Amino acid sequence: RELVVVVGTRPEIIKMAPVIRAAEGTFDRYLVHTGQHYDAEMSGAFFEALDLPAPDENLEIGSGTQGEQTADGLVGVERLLLERDPAAAVALGDTNAVLSTALAASKLSTTFGHVEAGLRSFDRSMPEEVNRVVADHVADLSFAPTGQAVANLAEEGVTDGVHETGNTIVDACREHAPLAAERSAVLERFDLEGCYAAATIHRASNTDDPERLRAIMDALDGASAPVVLPAHPRTRGVLDEIGYEPSGSLRLVEPLDYLDFLKLLDAARVVVTDSGGIQEEASILEVPCLTVRPNTERPETVEAGVNELVEPGELGARLDALLTDDDAHDAMTGHPDLYGDGRAGERIVDALAAEFD
Ligand code: UD1
Ligand code: UDP
Repeated sequence: RELVVVVGTRPEIIKMAPVIRAAEGTFDRYLVHTGQHYDAEMSGAFFEALDLPAPDENLEIGSGTQGEQTADGLVGVERLLLERDPAAAVALGDTNAVLSTALAASKLSTTFGHVEAGLRSFDRSMPEEVNRVVADHVADLSFAPTGQAVANLAEEGVTDGVHETGNTIVDACREHAPLAAERSAVLERFDLEGCYAAATIHRASNTDDPERLRAIMDALDGASAPVVLPAHPRTRGVLDEIGYEPSGSLRLVEPLDYLDFLKLLDAARVVVTDSGGIQEEASILEVPCLTVRPNTERPETVEAGVNELVEPGELGARLDALLTDDDAHDAMTGHPDLYGDGRAGERIVDALAAEFD
């Protein structure tokens, strides 16, 4: 019984790790990396930090347009599914690897399991929203992290093969936060003693418009405490192009491995982000989160009051309030359990195995 597991980018490696571990002994695993992320600090570093086996195959699709990445991934995944004839294929989240795997598997009638199914921003201008919708509608098995995700699927008529499992980010974060606390020297490396903010920005909607990106960076640079931003290569590319140099509180650093990032996040007073995974991790680690987006597919964090959507123009004032006002800060903590109990990986593998018993 073989399970083909497809990943392509940093967050998929992190969030699929608990599924890969749980599958051991139940399935023969064939791990495929589409190669969408390829820099060591966006890919290889995570296999090391998470103690994962090296991929059995890398499709090396690299960077490109949405169509190029999806098409190259589709051709590669289809070929290997034909070669291997596995019991099932799984992919996670909303990247182009998910779309390629969903299309390849469903057309070959290979059982396709979508991990992190049912999330919706209801914003079809995001490539990720298109990927989610398509994957959810061709999946045989949908592993929905929350009751809201189950309800979103039901709203679109997807009710067969739906399992509410929790999100594997809880498994990953709970397993690695103590290791990070013990092993990571990131605070010493960046000389962070007192109050500081962590930040990440990489979403196309924030980086493709240089003026919007500049406004976000200026708000971070004007903060009343240090702001450490490990820059995604996409963001670094645009900042280099426009010659952006921070002159105040902002410190642009290289992307961090998972243990260093978790430690940076865990000890931060507040996080500013447009990342999906970090909105979840911030709630788990009880770090107030400001999300620089007009919408989110993680609405439970906003409803719980631990995450706020902000526009670049409001960011500076909200950030300073959270950095300086204890009441404002404390009001945005206290909901670490929105995404389950840390056993999502196990549940997903159990549900997959039950299909073949
Ligand atoms: C992709 C996902 C996004 C996810 C993000 C995680 C899609 C549509 N987007 O966005 O949902 O949140 O990954 O980080 O699948 N680059 C490098 N080195 C790398 C990878 C990328 O330099 O190893 C640069 C290239 O210039 C590339 C750009 O970053 O063109 C964007 O990379 P890409 O993989 O296309 O999209 P992400 O923004 O990373
Ligand atoms: N992350 C990391 N190092 C960094 C930035 C992020 O390890 O320098 C981790 C973070 O903890 C989270 C994941 O990467 O688990 C989020 O990835 P990203 O923001 O790239 O993608 P998204 O979640 O938005 O799809």
